[in-house]
Amino acid sequence: MNTIEFISHSANETEFLGAALGKSLNIGDCAALFGGLGAGKTAFARGVGAALGVSDVCSPTFTISMEHEGRIPFVHMDAYRLSSAEEFFELGLDEAFPRAAVLVEWADRIQEALPERRLELTFKEGKGDCERVIVARARGGADALLEKFVCKANVGANCVRPRAVTDRPYM
Ligand SMILES: Nc1ncnc2c1ncn2[C@@H]1O[C@H](COP(=O)(O)OP(=O)(O)O)[C@@H](O)[C@H]1O
Ligand SMILES: [Mg+2]
Repeated sequence: MNTIEFISHSANETEFLGAALGKSLNIGDCAALFGGLGAGKTAFARGVGAALGVSDVCSPTFTISMEHEGRIPFVHMDAYRLSSAEEFFELGLDEAFPRAAVLVEWADRIQEALPERRLELTFKEGKGDCERVIVARARGGADALLEKFVCKANVGANCVRPRAVTDRPYM
């Protein structure tokens, strides 16, 4: 299993999905988030933070990187204002990867700077205003992390849980 697609019908469902990932993350894991403005990346990050014991996650658009002390060190980045991977390295932001769980919004801005082993989450518009299609893909051997995440997302009798709708081969 390398790629799986979820449908979310509300910001709450997206947060729930984020929480499933938060429960699965360890130090050294990286979640790279793709998708435009309002796609739900920060909603997802809030859920990740909540599951790690961090309640004040908001978009670090101006500070670019925000570190939180949860169950493990959690670094939340927003690369929107960066223009290249070089800029990311110049700011020394890559130092976080080996010592924290790192979530990067607007990961396309700095794609070359991302660790090879990562979970990619692509947020796309769905039907209507509130539906989002969230595609999770394991890169560079992150398959076990993806499986753990999918398992947590499907566990429990939570009525808002998103459903995995496809299980597609790696593309
Ligand atoms: N299914 C959904 N998932 C996430 N956000 C949603 C959803 N439906 C509506 N929204 C709304 O879309 C916006 C998403 O904002 P945000 O998470 O900050 O996006 P991004 O970080 O990608 O720019 C919020 O206003 C949220 O309430
Ligand atoms: Mg955001």
